Amino acid sequence: MKIDIITAFPKMFVGSFTESIIGRAIKNKIININFINIRSFSNDKHKKIDDRPFGGGCGMVIKIEPVYYAIKSTGVKKKNKKYKNFYTKPLVIYMTPQGKILKHKLILDFSKYKHLVIVCGHYEGIDERIKNYVDEEISIGNYVLTGGEIPAMVLIDSITRILPGVIKSDSIKNDSFFNGLCDYPSYTRPVVFKNHKVPDILLSGNHKNINDWRIKKSYNKTIKHKIDSK
Ligand code: ADE
Repeated sequence: MKIDIITAFPKMFVGSFTESIIGRAIKNKIININFINIRSFSNDKHKKIDDRPFGGGCGMVIKIEPVYYAIKSTGVKKKNKKYKNFYTKPLVIYMTPQGKILKHKLILDFSKYKHLVIVCGHYEGIDERIKNYVDEEISIGNYVLTGGEIPAMVLIDSITRILPGVIKSDSIKNDSFFNGLCDYPSYTRPVVFKNHKVPDILLSGNHKNINDWRIKKSYNKTIKHKIDSK
């Protein structure tokens, strides 16, 4: 999968893509990440990309022109262009707190694309006319961060880990939300830590009972999660 990240702050990503599972996915060429700096598309001699909002108000707004040309530079064609296979069409995603909340189902859908273009806003966001040039607006939660860079890292991490060859497919099947349920609780050695013991059933060796216990715990956790997240 090719991932183009459109940002004014590419250095924010340093580190997050070199370590662990994502680092390995890049090394093994399962994903190919490419940074496109919005400033490279500024026609201002100081490479300025933002301006004051029309109508007044605080903060600065990222201008539409450099973002538009940055998106165009990725090879994205007009929205209505027909592709042989839907998922070979590049998908342009804008990270914004006003977007659809990211859920497992969306991650599964995004993971089928061959090419994602992820646009990160900053300051007070990008000029609203960006809506004409993106396919999806995605939020990682109902809170506001300083920009779309950290949300983009969250999105890329969640997509990459479910791509074939990145982690064992059994691990993905056991994920929270894979089957609409939260994951069951996991324990490892030691059996007792500061008076807290691993549930006896997990040490019993009875796989049928262990399985039944895990299903029950998954349901209970899911119900609690649903109540807590209301
Ligand atoms: N940019 C700032 N806050 C954000 C959020 N919660 N989700 C996505 N992009 C953002």
